[in-house]
Amino acid sequence: MAPTRRLTGFQATGHLHLGNLLGALRPLIAAQGAAQSIALIADLHAMTIEHNPADVRASALEQATVLLAAGVDPERTPIVLQSQVREHTELHYLLECVAGFGEAARMIQFKEKSAAGGQVRLSLLTYPVLMSADILLHDVTQVPVGEDQRQHLELTRTLAHRFNTRYGTTFTVPEGVQPESAARIMDLAEPTAKMSKSAGAGRIGLLDPPEVVRRTVARAVTDEFGVVRRDPQRQPGVTNLINLLAECTGREPADPGSYGALKREVTDAIEALLAPLRARHAELAEDPGYVRGVLAESAERVRPTAAATVRRARAAIGLLD
Ligand code: TRP
Repeated sequence: MAPTRRLTGFQATGHLHLGNLLGALRPLIAAQGAAQSIALIADLHAMTIEHNPADVRASALEQATVLLAAGVDPERTPIVLQSQVREHTELHYLLECVAGFGEAARMIQFKEKSAAGGQVRLSLLTYPVLMSADILLHDVTQVPVGEDQRQHLELTRTLAHRFNTRYGTTFTVPEGVQPESAARIMDLAEPTAKMSKSAGAGRIGLLDPPEVVRRTVARAVTDEFGVVRRDPQRQPGVTNLINLLAECTGREPADPGSYGALKREVTDAIEALLAPLRARHAELAEDPGYVRGVLAESAERVRPTAAATVRRARAAIGLLD
């Protein structure tokens, strides 16, 4: 059997948060011994909506630094900055030639984001085709994806299969895998919505200082039932806090009757995870040259596979070499 090869992607927009750590980063780090993984920072995807150039640059570097600080070992897991491996954009174009306009326009995320108003960038429409290129380029067998990216992964599989059928076997058709983490981490201020990079009040950034973490948890939405139990329908806030505690520590709350005690436990649990990450990040941030070096080496490491995939795709679709 072919070895498991995995690609985990992070879009370089905003700051990585606790949901990213528990849902994507921690599983990636835990699997470093078993699977061959690639961590991808998608800076091109960050330009599909109105963007500030300095912010995208800063976000890309910060995310790479946070990945290292959290324990991604670049010797085993290359940290690839999407824009630095040009084959991503070359394969993107070739895949656009097997993707339909209607197919792209039907994507839920496109419909949601394009409804927000303002000019809709063409790159927002082709976003999932670029994501398909990210995945197919590296010949991976598995892609951990959350609920919101499931449809994009299905499109990736469709495009790979279509290309292979029309032009001859070129791509590995990847499987989507559910993140190992049992619970989705929700926003603390709005516990029916997933914690996201852009949302404000209820997200816990991985680099948030201790007092911000404490305040965010203290202000987390609860309810008037006064019972610490999981009831996602009626008590989404309290359920999210219990899940957070369980994800961080593997423990259940000590006191079933006190929201105050629950919040203190959650704060301590988050602090225990973030304190070492913050400290390591501060060290690494002193040496951006090292982080840039990791990105450059990682790009070199994945380039042979990427170049080979593009070579196969070019030949299959009808281009001269
Ligand atoms: N679209 C993904 C997100 O918003 C990020 C991403 C870009 C990605 N390329 C990818 C995820 C490839 C997995 C594989 O989360």
